[in-house]
Amino acid sequence: MEDRELIALAVGARIKAYAPCSHYPVGAALLTASGRVYTGCNVENASYGLTICAERTAAVKAVCDGEREFVAIAVVSENGGTPCGACRQVLAEFGPNMRVLVADASGNYEVYSLSQLLPHRFGPSHLPPKNSGVQ
Ligand code: THU
Repeated sequence: MEDRELIALAVGARIKAYAPCSHYPVGAALLTASGRVYTGCNVENASYGLTICAERTAAVKAVCDGEREFVAIAVVSENGGTPCGACRQVLAEFGPNMRVLVADASGNYEVYSLSQLLPHRFGPSHLPPKNSGVQ
C-alpha cells in the first residue's frame, strides 16, 4: 500500500468525524500486517472528556477484528497535528515500530516512526509475568 493511498483513506474517514466541540475533524487509516485497512475518525461528546481520537477509533476497530500487528497509520487534520500521547501509547501496544504518516488538509505529509514519537515507552514487557506472585 502506497503512502498516498493510505492518506486518501484517512481523508475519507475525516469526513465522518463528529467534532461539534473542537471543530477539528481528524481522520485515520490504519494498515495491519494482514494487509487490511481500518479507518477511524474523532468522535466528540458534550461531556468533553469522553472524546475518542481518530487513531484510537481505528486501533480499537482493528483489534476487535482480530488484528494485533500494526504496520502504518495515516492521520489527517487541517494542519497536520501529530497523534496525541494517549494515541501514541495505544498504537505502540500493537506497532512499536510502525510508520506514522501525518498529513494536512492540503496533502503535505511527514513520516515518523512510532518509536521516534514515543521513545522509552511503557510496554507489556514491564508487566510481571503471569503467576509471578507480584501483586
Ligand atoms: N484528536 C484526534 O482525533 N487525534 C489526535 O491525535 C489529536 C486530537 C481530536 C480529539 C478532539 O476531537 C480534537 O481532535 C481536538 O483535540
